[in-house]
Amino acid sequence: METVKPINVAELRRMRVAGEKIASLTCYDASFALVEDRAGVDVILVGDSLGMVMQGGNTTTPVTVDQVVYHSKCVAPQLKRAFLVADLPFLSYATLERALDASQRLMQEGGAKMVKLEGGREQASIVEYLAVRGVPVCAHLGLQPQFVHKMGNFKVQGREDAAAEAMLHDAKVLAEAGADLLVLECIPSELGRRITEISPVPVIGIGAGPSTDGQILVLQDILDISPLVTLGRKPRFVKNYMDGAASIEAAIRAYVAEVKSGAYPDAEHSFDLPLTLQSPEPKAMKLPTAKVAARRKK
Ligand code: KIV
Repeated sequence: METVKPINVAELRRMRVAGEKIASLTCYDASFALVEDRAGVDVILVGDSLGMVMQGGNTTTPVTVDQVVYHSKCVAPQLKRAFLVADLPFLSYATLERALDASQRLMQEGGAKMVKLEGGREQASIVEYLAVRGVPVCAHLGLQPQFVHKMGNFKVQGREDAAAEAMLHDAKVLAEAGADLLVLECIPSELGRRITEISPVPVIGIGAGPSTDGQILVLQDILDISPLVTLGRKPRFVKNYMDGAASIEAAIRAYVAEVKSGAYPDAEHSFDLPLTLQSPEPKAMKLPTAKVAARRKK
């Protein structure tokens, strides 16, 4: 019998270096977890998007740690190969202690192997606090749905030069703080390319163009059944993989195949907006792992 090797952080790094695209989807329950794992999804996220696709809310802000733990517990036992990431919900990482407690719950009770949090350089101390204690962290830049009430909309981020420069800087700071993975949401493709080039850790995009190391989408969006799609508020980067598919598993396999081949996302599903950054093409950063390990020893 063929043995399946579970994906880990080192494997995600290897894939980035080897140029193998990382296919990622959200998931919230056991049935879909089984299908996604079987269909070759590399990274599965129990996202706080569950507030919208599972609970039918307008935002992710009401989602609680208990709820993410509950859904992670449904997903984790089904996975043989895929790497499980769980979202730290709104305000659950507002202080160092809360971030550590919530991460402990997501990993020990929920079975997640990494936690994800939204925000830029202002989250660096939280990322470092978790990373030096052995919690793998995924940072999330660009559109940050948890902060919708502050941002005021769900629009493309990093369009203005200053915002784009700031995001490049945030990506560096978060990687230096010890983040092992980065999600970029809803930004111009050129900015996605520039951040991916300088990042020492794998970068997964959602509406961030074709140059990132991988892609993530909300499962119900690609199956064309999410409330957003049903209410006619489908984001530009969402592609319907049920179109012409014989089954849900076939649709997920088609998504994985298109991510792996680079066919998704094409221009139709990206934001090809002009970008005129002042800073010269930045140099790629080295992995900050040695720095984090040194801090851990202190
Ligand atoms: O909550 C979520 O599903 C996410 C992805 C869309 C990246 O954060």
